Amino acid sequence: MNVGEMLKMMRDPLGAPFYPPALQVLLVVTWVLHIFFVTLALGSSLYAIWGFLRPTDYRLRLARVAARLTPNAVGLGIVTGIAPLLFVQTIYDPIWYASNSLTGFWSVSFIFVVMGGYSLAYLFYLKGSPDGKLLWSAVASFILLFFAGWIMHVLAAVSIRPERWMEWYAPNGIIDTRGIIFHAWNIPRLVFLLPLQACLSLAVTLTLFGWYFRRSEEDAPFIQWVANLGRKLGLVISPIYALAGLLWAMTEGVEFGIGWQVGITLVGIGVALTGYFFWLRQPIRHAPRTLLVWIGTLVVVGMVREAIRVVSLARFGYSVATYPYAFDWGSIIVFTVTTIVGVAVLAYLIMVMYQSGGVKRDAQISPRVERLGTIATGMLGAWFGFFLLVGLYATFLLR
Ligand code: HEM
Repeated sequence: MNVGEMLKMMRDPLGAPFYPPALQVLLVVTWVLHIFFVTLALGSSLYAIWGFLRPTDYRLRLARVAARLTPNAVGLGIVTGIAPLLFVQTIYDPIWYASNSLTGFWSVSFIFVVMGGYSLAYLFYLKGSPDGKLLWSAVASFILLFFAGWIMHVLAAVSIRPERWMEWYAPNGIIDTRGIIFHAWNIPRLVFLLPLQACLSLAVTLTLFGWYFRRSEEDAPFIQWVANLGRKLGLVISPIYALAGLLWAMTEGVEFGIGWQVGITLVGIGVALTGYFFWLRQPIRHAPRTLLVWIGTLVVVGMVREAIRVVSLARFGYSVATYPYAFDWGSIIVFTVTTIVGVAVLAYLIMVMYQSGGVKRDAQISPRVERLGTIATGMLGAWFGFFLLVGLYATFLLR
């Protein structure tokens, strides 16, 4: 049996529950949200550590905000990580499960690594950040979260190299079931995706912070300082981002025969971002646009990752377009309703945040938003009830 036949045989015999290319698009889109929040967690964690190590008045103030942001961003990163996980398991199950088995020890430890990173970030925010104590917990949290990203990266790297699985599974003919070895990685890709994007996600969020609190007159100098810091950070990191993109293209891109395409795209977005931050004269005013630019950049990065996976698997005749599928209406309805309920609740929370805090201190929530809140939470309650009933029905009535 060759690699291509093996990959096809490892697909789910029931097929995908929906048209596979649509799931591929959702995979990229949801991964963009995931990577935005996890990189923001790393960026804010790093800033908090730096701010407490080299304090000035403003740095310390911002470091406290950053320490508070980290656990929130990790939480959102975990939640938004579940969605790409579902899609990757659905259309790339052969490669995802193989890489998770070959790296078994770490894919199980991953959960504890993330739990540790989150708990320590929370500990620092709650107990350490008010007076700069327990800095070790912030440092340990950063290391664990970075390590979680490293594990993710190794899983992705192993998954797109199926031609080497046998050699990793049984080196010299002896089976190694420990799953403890990091079989594959690419440093430029990791540097591009994690530390550099962490700085850029932080840079964008700092400008948004300025925008959110733009009407607070007593804090105007601090707010201006934060937003300018965001712009400067963006300006310094973007060229390095372009360089790391070039190195990623020259290594992994060339390995899979798309060095030019990857290089032009990644250098292109790095240079475009540099230009954007250079000409961004009013970072506070244009922060929403800056966020859009950054999300657009991440979409391009998500597409590059996907292109690398597609060309790698095309070598063995594996394609998402030919993945068998059969519409599973139960799953489709559950997914669609959950998305509608989730988006309604999120929209409500975002509007409350917008109308309550930054704009005016004593601002009132508008009746329309209140109504949306009532409807959204009502839908959420009804949806929980429905799940409970399905569970009871499946447990007691289905034989
Ligand atoms: C909190 C720490 C985390 C960090 C720093 C992190 C970082 C990353 C990075 C850097 C990648 C891309 C790897 C590459 O392409 O080389 C990635 C992919 C991914 N992450 Fe995370 N991640 C974290 C947590 C999670 C969690 C908790 C989940 C699931 C619940 C998750 C689900 C995924 C999935 C499914 C992918 C692969 C998507 C694909 O192959 O298209 N991540 N993550």
